[in-house]
Amino acid sequence: MKVLITGGRGQLAQAFQKFLEEKGLEYKALSREELDIGNFETVLATVRSFAPQVIINCAAYNQVDKAEEDFPQAFRVNALGPYNLFLAAAEVKAFLIHFSTDYVFSGEKGDFYREEDHPEPINKYGLSKCLGEKALKEAEDCLLFRVSWLFGEGKQNFLAKVLSWARQRETLYIAYDEFSIPTYTETVARISWLAFEKGLRGLFHLASNDFCSRLEWAKFFLKVAGISRRVVPVPASYFNLPAKRPFFSALSSEKLQKELQVNLPPWQEEVQKFVKRPLQNILS
Ligand SMILES: NC(=O)c1ccc[n+]([C@@H]2O[C@H](COP(=O)([O-])OP(=O)(O)OC[C@H]3O[C@@H](n4cnc5c(N)ncnc54)[C@H](OP(=O)(O)O)[C@@H]3O)[C@@H](O)[C@H]2O)c1
Repeated sequence: MKVLITGGRGQLAQAFQKFLEEKGLEYKALSREELDIGNFETVLATVRSFAPQVIINCAAYNQVDKAEEDFPQAFRVNALGPYNLFLAAAEVKAFLIHFSTDYVFSGEKGDFYREEDHPEPINKYGLSKCLGEKALKEAEDCLLFRVSWLFGEGKQNFLAKVLSWARQRETLYIAYDEFSIPTYTETVARISWLAFEKGLRGLFHLASNDFCSRLEWAKFFLKVAGISRRVVPVPASYFNLPAKRPFFSALSSEKLQKELQVNLPPWQEEVQKFVKRPLQNILS
C-alpha cells in the first residue's frame, strides 16, 4: 500500500505522517512547493509516477480572512485542487480522502449540523471549500470528511495563537459568541483511516464530542497548560475581521460513530492529551 499526502507541511498532514509511520505504511508527503494541487498537469504527472493506492488531500487555502480579497487563489486550491486530485486518482485507480469544513454552513441552524443539511457558506473560504466538495460528494472511490477547529502540532491553529499571545501579553481578548468543536488532528488521522479500512464511502462529519465557545476553549487550554493570564470575553465583532464566521457550526458525528461503532472523545480530553506533549512542539 502506497499513500500520497498533499500539503505535507500542514498540521493534519503531519498527524497522518506520524500515524502511517507507526502503521509501517509507505507514504510520500509533498509540500506546496513539491506539489501544487491547483496545477492539473503537475498533479497528474506526480500521481502517475508515484502510483499511490490512496491519496490523502491535506492541502488547503486556510486563511479565512485573506480569502475575502484573494478568492481566485482560495478557489484554485480549495475547489480546483480536490477536483484535480480526483481526476488524477481515477487515472491510477487510487482512493481519495479529502477534508472540508464546518464553515460551509451559515451557523444559523441553532443545532448540530448533519451530513444532509444544506451548505450555505457566509464567507469566501467557506464558499471555496463548498465548491471543492461538489465533485467528490457522489464519487465512489472517495471519502469526504468535514472537520472543525483543528488543532495539533503546527502553528496554524487557534491554540498555537493563544500560546503565542500568552507569551507576549498579560491580558487576552477572546470571543465568547463563536461556537464549534475543537478536534485533534491525531484523532482525525486515526478515525478517517479506520473509515477507509472499514470500506466507508461518501460524506461524513468528523469532530470531537461536545461543543464550546472560543473563550471556553482558550480558558480550558490555558488552565490545563498551567498558564495564568487574564482572559477578557469579547464579542467576535470586537476584532472587526474581514470574513464573517458562523455563530454555531458544531458538527454531529453521529453517522460516523454509528458506522464505525466508536465514540469520539470529548474535546476537553483531546486538549488534555495534546498538552501532555512538550508545549515547544506546538510552536517549533
Ligand atoms: N485548521 C482548521 O481549523 C480547519 C477547520 C476545518 C477544516 N479544515 C480543513 O482540514 C484540512 C487540513 O487543514 P490543516 O489545518 O492541516 O491546514 P494547514 O495546517 O493550513 O495545512 C495546509 C497545507 O496546505 C498547503 N497548501 C496551500 N496551498 C497549496 C497548494 N496549492 N498545493 C499544495 N499544498 C498547498 C499549505 O502550505 P503552506 O504552509 O506552504 O502555505 C499547508 O502546508 C484542510 O482541508 C482544511 O480546509 C481545517
